[in-house]
Parts: sequence; C-alpha cells; structure tokens
Amino acid sequence: MDITPLFDDQGQCTHFVAVQRDITERKKQEAALHQAQQRFQLISRATNDVIWDYDLVSGEVWRSDAYAGVLGDSPTEIEPVMESWTNFIHPDDVGRVLDSLRKVIDGGKDLWGSEYRFIRRNGKVAHVIDRGFVIRDQSGKAIRMVGSMLDITDRMAMEQQLRESQKLEAVGHLTGGVAHDFNNLLTVILGNTETLAELLDEPRMRQMAEMTVLAAKRGAELTGRLLAFARRQPLNPKPTDLSQLVDAMRPLLRRTLPEHIDLEIVHQPDPGIVEVDASELDTALLNLVVNARDAMRDGGKLTIETAKVVLDSHYATQHPEVTPGDYVMISVSDTGVGMDSTTAQRAFEPFFTTKAVGKGSGLGLSMVFGFTKQSGGHIKIYSEKGEGTSVKLYFPQVQGMQQPAGQAKTRADLEGGTEHILIAEDDDLVRQHLQAQLRVLGYQVTAAASGPEAMAALDAAGNVDLLLTDIIMPGGMNGRELAERAQAKRPGLKVLFTSGYTENAIVHHGRLDPGVELLSKPYTRMELAEKIRAVLD
Ligand SMILES: Nc1ncnc2c1ncn2[C@@H]1O[C@H](COP(=O)(O)OP(=O)(O)OP(=O)(O)O)[C@@H](O)[C@H]1O
Ligand SMILES: [Mg+2]
Repeated sequence: MDITPLFDDQGQCTHFVAVQRDITERKKQEAALHQAQQRFQLISRATNDVIWDYDLVSGEVWRSDAYAGVLGDSPTEIEPVMESWTNFIHPDDVGRVLDSLRKVIDGGKDLWGSEYRFIRRNGKVAHVIDRGFVIRDQSGKAIRMVGSMLDITDRMAMEQQLRESQKLEAVGHLTGGVAHDFNNLLTVILGNTETLAELLDEPRMRQMAEMTVLAAKRGAELTGRLLAFARRQPLNPKPTDLSQLVDAMRPLLRRTLPEHIDLEIVHQPDPGIVEVDASELDTALLNLVVNARDAMRDGGKLTIETAKVVLDSHYATQHPEVTPGDYVMISVSDTGVGMDSTTAQRAFEPFFTTKAVGKGSGLGLSMVFGFTKQSGGHIKIYSEKGEGTSVKLYFPQVQGMQQPAGQAKTRADLEGGTEHILIAEDDDLVRQHLQAQLRVLGYQVTAAASGPEAMAALDAAGNVDLLLTDIIMPGGMNGRELAERAQAKRPGLKVLFTSGYTENAIVHHGRLDPGVELLSKPYTRMELAEKIRAVLD
C-alpha cells in the first residue's frame, strides 16, 4: 500500500491518497520460484549425476558440484568452459564423443547420449554415461543443451568382479566333475600297481610298476588340486593358531628358497584362532611361497605376516562375497616381478600360467583360491608390474577359542585284520579293487553295488563289523542313508565313508560332520589299511 499526502495552497495537508495493490500473486510466484530453486538443488544433490547446462551461444557451461567428484578434486577450480570437459575425456574416446555431439546439434535432433572414459586428475580412468537434450530457437538453431552425466566406474568394477567370480564358479563345476571321475580311476590304478610292484620279482618289470605308481600318485596330486579349486576337497578344519603354523613351516620354507632370497616372518602378537584344515593350509602356503620364489629369480625378500584384521561393511560392499567381521590374515609378499592387471585378474583360473611349458601347471593359485573359499575365507591379490606381489588370505576368527591342542600323528605299519567288512560301492572297478585289497589284508569281505543290495547282504550275512560305503551312489539310497539304516538294524556297526569329493550328504559346507570317518579317494594302501584299523579299534 502506498500513501501520499495532498497539500492546499497554504501548505496545509488536506487529504491522503492511499493506493492498495493486491500482491498475493507476486508473493505466490516468489515462493514458487524459491521452492523450484531449492528443489533443483536438492535433486542435483540427491542424484549422483552431474547436471550441466551448456549455452551454445556464449560457450559457457554450468555444472553442478558433483562434477568435482568425477574429476576427483575439490569443487573450486573448474572453469565454466567446454575445455573443462573435453580436456578430461580419454584420448581414444574424445573424437567419437565430440562427433556424436556435433551430429545431434547440426542434424536437428533433440537427444544426445554417449558412454565414454574420463581421465581423472589423478590419472585413473572413470567410466561415465552422459546424456543431454538440445533447445532450439524459432529458426531451429541450437542455442542451449541441458544434460546429466553419471559416473558408473564403481558399478562397472563390481559387475566385472561378479563376472569373474561367476566364471570361476562355472569352471569349478566342470573341473570338479572331471576330477571326481579321474579320482576313481586313479584309485584303481594306484592300488593295483602298488600290488604289482610288490609281487613282481623281475627287476625291470618291477621298476616299470613302480614308475606307474609314481605317475598315478602325481595324477592324484593333480586331481586333488582340481578338487580343491572346485571346493570339493573334504576338509578337516581344526582350531589353529596361524602364527604357530607358520613358525612350524619355517625350516621347510627356508629349504624351498634359494640363499639369495631373504625370508622374514612377522607375527602380530596373538592374532587369534581360526578353524582351518592345517595340512591344506600348509599346501596353500607352500604354493604361494613357490610362486614368490619364481617371481624373484634375481633374489629379493619374502615376507610372511599374520595379523588380526577387521573387514568392515565398507570393504564388504566392494567385495560382495565378504561377510563383515573379525578375521585373521596371513599374507605372503615378495619383491619380485609382479603382475599386470590382466594376469592378476586371471591368476586364479585353473591352468592359467605364464610359465614355460613344463614349469607351471597353473593350478597353484587355483588350489589356494578354492581352499580359502571353502574354509569360509577371502583371498585378495595385490600386485603391480615390477612392484612385487602380496597375496592375502583372510579366515574368520573363531570367538572365545582356547589354544589348540598339539596334534601328533604317527604312521602305523601296514596292518590288516580278520574282521568282516561289507563294501557298498557302485563303481565296478573300484569295488573289485577294494575287495582285492581288503582280502590281501586278511579281512573277510562282502561286496554290494548299491544301498539296497548292501541292506540285503546285511540281512543275509552273519556278523558284520564294518560297513565301508561310498557316499554318492545311485539307486535311491546314498551312503549316509545306507549307514543310518544299517546301524538301525545292527546297532554298534562301525561305518567308514569313502568319497572323491563329498557333497551335502556328508560334508556340510565342506566340513566333515563330527564323528564321521572319511577316507578320501584316491588313497594308498597304507591309508586304507590305517583308516580301517583306526575305525575298527
Ligand atoms: N608372486 C607372484 N608374482 C608374480 N606373478 C605371480 C605370482 N604368483 C602367481 N603369479 C602369476 O600367476 C600365474 C598363476 O599362478 P599359479 O600358482 O596358479 O600357477 P603356476 O605357478 O604358473 O603353476 P603351478 O603353481 O601349478 O606350478 C603364474 O603363472 C604367474 O604368472
Ligand atoms: Mg604356482
């Protein structure tokens, strides 16, 4: 409201003129504008997108604050010009991107979109999706473009990781299946040639048989590594102090390494107890140490460390397979040749090797990978070409564990017996072989090719002391079911399972159920004899 006084000739105020205007509409408009501005600011903050506004006439470009994040620095020093964008596009992409932009502007189209790489100020590559639309004047001339840019670098890295792990998963299924079958064959070859080597008197023939035993053992080793990669190696996890385990291995490691490689072992005091299969972990460590040795032909330093670490939720978001929590880490680091990113990415693949033919089978890290995963752990390679390598294994820390009991294992002599053993095994070769082996050891043997057949044999037989059964058998009754039924009928019947790899029926998450006795294929006669006596006694 405006008020104006009116005066007469003497200067006396006689009237006031008041003018009232209705500004409700203006206030409303101001409020709406304020709200729109605020909303825009909130939206540009809420999306991670960079929002940009390009004035094609003046050449000025406005960008929201998120742009600093893509460049990887603070929001201040970005000039509102095209060059603040074009200068950072990957040299291999910049031509294509600008071409496509020009085509849209000149070609009378409205929408532009492109996916390209960006070089951040620290030199790292970012991946972005950029989109915009063109605003034209009445004559159709492009005068302005507005758009948004999305940084998809993290998402692409995650997708890549997922693809890698799916690939390893698929390869694992395949190799696991093949290795399982080979295991059965090797069991027969190994057992028979061992017997042959003993029976043959003629030295040359005997030597041939012995060579076959060696070859079969080597094959068994190989299939064992494949099964480990496929996470199908039966594990026997026990509470273990990793620092003690590493210390116990020191003499062996020292002997494995040539003199011009220094070995240092660093322990954090009391890193905690983990539940792992100690002998498999020995093998895994040895594989890592051999790799480190091979990477340091001209000498260097090998460091083994144990430490208590926490993998937090942040780490877990970057590594989707990790459960956040307390872990005990064991790392093997070298100062060797290192790996480029392609090699590091493929290093876990079975049969991936950069070593000369005959020098490496490409199964070392595959075994380490499978074993770590099967033990509920996590594995990570840090490596750069020329900068050495560090492989870290993380195992979940067991809460409230006391120090583990010392394990002492002595080898018994090849000892047989006269007890009655019932065999259930669907593979004809393996069954016949087992039967022969056990008879040689003095046992009384009955053999069956399936669960139902074994149950019938049990009914017909007199006293049976031990059921020796394969775990996976066709015919609607697996080894575990057979064992349950047989023990229901004959309480006190001892049971020994055999398997190449074990599935859920017996190995729960890759572990033996407590109290279950398992003989892994392929086994030597010594192992067979020993295990049978151990279960019987
Ligand atoms: N410490 C390391 N430094 C550099 N490169 C390594 C290291 N460890 C592994 N690699 C690379 O990863 C590849 C695969 O390793 P892996 O242990 O699986 O197989 P390998 O050592 O080639 O053969 P194998 O272990 O079966 O004898 C190696 O050939 C090598 O290129
Ligand atoms: Mg190796």
